[in-house]
Amino acid sequence: MSCPPIDRSVPFKLIGKITNNPQSSNRNPRLLFWSVSSPSSPSSPPSSPPHQVILKHGLGGLFVSSASCEHLHRSARRGDTVSLTIGKLEPLKKSPGTYLLHATDAVITSIHVHGNTGNSYEKEIPITSSLPPPPLPPPSSPLPPPPTSDLDVNEVHPPSKKERFSVFLNFLSEKFDLKKNHILDVAGGQGKLSLLLTLSGHSVTLIDPRPNSGLLSSKHRKQLRKNGFVWPGAFKIHRGFFENDEETTKTFFNNDKKTLVVGLHPDEATEAIVDAAIANRRPFAVIPCCIYSRIFRSRTHLNIPVRTYPQFLDYLQAKTEGVKRETLRFGGRNVVVYHEGDYGEVKLCGRVGGEGGEPEMKKAKMI
Ligand SMILES: C[S@@+](CC[C@H](N)C(=O)[O-])C[C@H]1O[C@@H](n2cnc3c(N)ncnc32)[C@H](O)[C@@H]1O
Repeated sequence: MSCPPIDRSVPFKLIGKITNNPQSSNRNPRLLFWSVSSPSSPSSPPSSPPHQVILKHGLGGLFVSSASCEHLHRSARRGDTVSLTIGKLEPLKKSPGTYLLHATDAVITSIHVHGNTGNSYEKEIPITSSLPPPPLPPPSSPLPPPPTSDLDVNEVHPPSKKERFSVFLNFLSEKFDLKKNHILDVAGGQGKLSLLLTLSGHSVTLIDPRPNSGLLSSKHRKQLRKNGFVWPGAFKIHRGFFENDEETTKTFFNNDKKTLVVGLHPDEATEAIVDAAIANRRPFAVIPCCIYSRIFRSRTHLNIPVRTYPQFLDYLQAKTEGVKRETLRFGGRNVVVYHEGDYGEVKLCGRVGGEGGEPEMKKAKMI
């Protein structure tokens, strides 16, 4: 059976969703393969089997630069959406109705994220031209430090991640005047930290977009009631994303109350906590965990892309003068990055939001 011809003359643009992780060929490492399904193309209805995409390293003609190829190999994943420029197409004899698409350019336009918000979602990547090569370290600079695993961080401490809430509470009580502040527990999840802060007599708002955020376990609700608190209502719950933007500032910083921003393993919200606190000259304490280097791709520190945990800590600490860090005694990612709130006359070191330009992601589109 012969394939129906694709209804376009080359070159043409095609938006497609990657259906497998890009792979290079064992026999020829200068080739990169993946498949895309392209519901937007009139010749390939959503039910059709995915087309195969091939990219070749090289110059001109049907080739793409090796920098682009390497970048795609490292960054593109199943579920991401790419905008392809197709220079040639060949019908695939083995699967009628599908094509081998020779791409001369490929740009990731949105990535598929399995967030911790209980949902998968798409994040748009605001790149309009060809993929830029990732920034490389200057030739004379030292190599980036090797990634540090949780085990390295915890060598001296017995690893018990469960203790993170009480250890963080003790740290906060020592470093900040909690009575004078309203505490924003950003990315507070189920609400254990908010619970402990409330039981200690502090005023708290938990911010997290998950539908079940702040609901606590029945044991913890009982604990609150036993201690004379009303449930629900012992602490405020704001179900939404915390960002470093006007809306967040208006909602959480535009009042007379002093505000302390805290985040325990706050995933994608980590940098927003630091940026929003600095922008509003408020104290903060954040214990980063995941780096999400695929989402936040323009982060660099000392001209080196931020990909590892130690690099991320350095990057956050370099945001402004007076940011400190300390290793706490619990298992897992246990380094707290904090500012006590005395910003004085200090100038911000570079742009709040990262050295690498605009933050890539603003709002996530829930799907
Ligand atoms: C790893 S959980 C940590 C929960 C809790 N702090 C703990 O330590 O158990 C990360 C949380 O970050 C939340 N999150 C992710 N992005 C966020 C954002 N922009 N604003 C607020 N919360 C966010 C997720 O919904 C998730 O509950």
